[in-house]
Amino acid sequence: MNIVNKDKNLTYPPINPKFPFIFHGADYNPDQWPRDTWDEDIRLMKLAKINIVTLPVFSWVNLQPDESTFTFDWLDEIMALLEKNNITVALATPTAAQPAWMSQKYPEMLLSDKFGIRHKHGSRNNFCPTSKDYRKFSFEIALNMVQRYKDAKNIAFWHVSNEYGSYCYCDNCAKEFRNWLKEKYKSLENLNDKWYTTFWSHTFDNWDQITPPYENGETRMQVLYLDYSRFMNQMILDCYLNEAGAIRSVKPDDFVTTNMMSAQYINIDCRAWAKHIDVIAWDCYPQPYHSDIAESAFRHECMRAAKDGQPFLLIEQSPSNKCWSPVLSRKKPGLMRLLSYQALAHGAESVMYFQWRRSLSGCEKMGSAIVESDNAEQTRVFKEVAHLGKELEKMGDSFLGSTSPAQVAILFDWESWWASDFCIGPIADKKYVATAEKHYKGFMQNHVDINVIYPDSNFDKYKIIVAPMLYMLKPGVTEKIEEFVNNGGTFITTTFSGIANEYDRLYTNGFLGPLQKVMGLWVEEVDSLYESQSNSIKFSKAPSGLKENYTCSRLCDTIHTKTAKTLATYGKSWQKGSPVVTENSLGKGKAYYIGTDPEESFLVDFYKMICLNSNIPIILDVPLGVETVTRTGPEAIFIFIINHNDVDVTVELKNDVYKDAINGCDLTGNIKMEPQGVVVLQK
Ligand code: GLA
Ligand code: ZN
Repeated sequence: MNIVNKDKNLTYPPINPKFPFIFHGADYNPDQWPRDTWDEDIRLMKLAKINIVTLPVFSWVNLQPDESTFTFDWLDEIMALLEKNNITVALATPTAAQPAWMSQKYPEMLLSDKFGIRHKHGSRNNFCPTSKDYRKFSFEIALNMVQRYKDAKNIAFWHVSNEYGSYCYCDNCAKEFRNWLKEKYKSLENLNDKWYTTFWSHTFDNWDQITPPYENGETRMQVLYLDYSRFMNQMILDCYLNEAGAIRSVKPDDFVTTNMMSAQYINIDCRAWAKHIDVIAWDCYPQPYHSDIAESAFRHECMRAAKDGQPFLLIEQSPSNKCWSPVLSRKKPGLMRLLSYQALAHGAESVMYFQWRRSLSGCEKMGSAIVESDNAEQTRVFKEVAHLGKELEKMGDSFLGSTSPAQVAILFDWESWWASDFCIGPIADKKYVATAEKHYKGFMQNHVDINVIYPDSNFDKYKIIVAPMLYMLKPGVTEKIEEFVNNGGTFITTTFSGIANEYDRLYTNGFLGPLQKVMGLWVEEVDSLYESQSNSIKFSKAPSGLKENYTCSRLCDTIHTKTAKTLATYGKSWQKGSPVVTENSLGKGKAYYIGTDPEESFLVDFYKMICLNSNIPIILDVPLGVETVTRTGPEAIFIFIINHNDVDVTVELKNDVYKDAINGCDLTGNIKMEPQGVVVLQK
């Protein structure tokens, strides 16, 4: 094992140094239950080793039954009960669902849909982010809460609202959007130029003509969609900052966060928000069943990268089936534990569930909970949660604050995701996130550590950076990539990269635009294939470890090499014989171009070669389907071995001796892992 822990001094304090342990807890809605249930809750929480609960996320009307009345007595009581039982609290502002009286008296605070039609009261996240009334009331409840609980001893962090992200299209947002545009473009002439409004005679001659991208209005101007996403992100972030400001005005040293959704959700740019959030928290809800081993791993890494490697909170996962899915498949035995350790492996320092006790009614009554009925302790879910809780308690604070030694990173970008998704063509479903995850998985199956980075991240730590489908090249990104390669880095990008600039405008020198130099080629055209079609990647002389042929699909670039050399050509169709995989040398580094969407096995084999060429250390040589992830701290290195297979596997530790970080015993030689098994090695 030759993990390089270059970051001996780069570790972080525990999420909240007052509570140096892995948070194990759940969303808790005591106000949905009679008072005597609370005592039973505490008893069961102790059995399940619950050390934190998130409340009162959806209790606004129970805290403020009318405009001038606050009723905190019930919350006082449960806060005192939790403190007495040494259960910490993620104290939540209840602003994701405003009371009916508020919507009734201030209907302008309700969200408007993409037709500009005002919603009726109901559901949640049903508020207009530019509404002055909403901001007044949400500030007020947050301030009342922080003033009331400023001396509470068991607040681990604050949880502002819940899953921000609903865009509004009301007249007030339209007005604020125009103000935002004036600030950004300064003149209408500049806006018309940057937006290329000459197309279809869309030139604006006064600001009032500019509207949000209504479904029954301007639906063909991608840059409008792009700027409206940027605007809505800022307006919704301002709602978070409004409440965080109230909290920080009384408790400036408290930790404030909000539960995000990583690359599961396009609307919120987690990287842009991260600088305003003390510790990243996110809700991990993979496909209904555990569909792909890389899916959650990649999305955890997106969250770790949001604050440049800082550990984060897994603040919601389902104990078994999730709520919102066509098929509510239950997590098979061991899967919840596996996914929990996968989160910890990738930077989490909490395992928290939605929710503690299943709601008796409402749209989530079929969602899983730790306590699903009066027979709680007999259930498989409760026993699995309690077992995991005991393990986490034993692990203590040993790996808190540890970081990742990865020297490989996938470059991801929300604005590029927005712009590429809005782009009409070359294929309807861009699959940007799925493609990024596929490239991530290509390295994951070579058992190396991989991070995610963003265009404005520091590239220095990495030897290999892959930017799949980097549609938008923001100012300065090309220069950063060129410098990275010149200094000896290996950069890889793919088809549908370098298509447009930050105004969604094409480059006159064709696709790849300013990236043509570092890639050593230009792209003449891209052919799009139907689901039934495919092409192939053909190596005339396959490099060691690669096969002669691989399939590829969806997008096929016609490439003209300049300084790049051709590694492989298309094996079929009218593009047969033209380059599809190229290698360019620039300075001390290399730049590879994959002009198509290759099959998974190509990426596994190709990235194995790339890792070998860059001396990227393999963590452990384990069977396929076994994930290995490292966390490095000042005192120890932790290797998570996660068996995603449905069969037993044997992992060879050879003569290395490790400590089992969960059970404390020594491990060496061959270890047998059961399906969904997890082992955490410590050295
Ligand atoms: C989301 C929300 C929770 C709840 C769960 C159900 O993450 O934050 O309020 O709706 O999903 O899975
Ligand atoms: Zn609005």
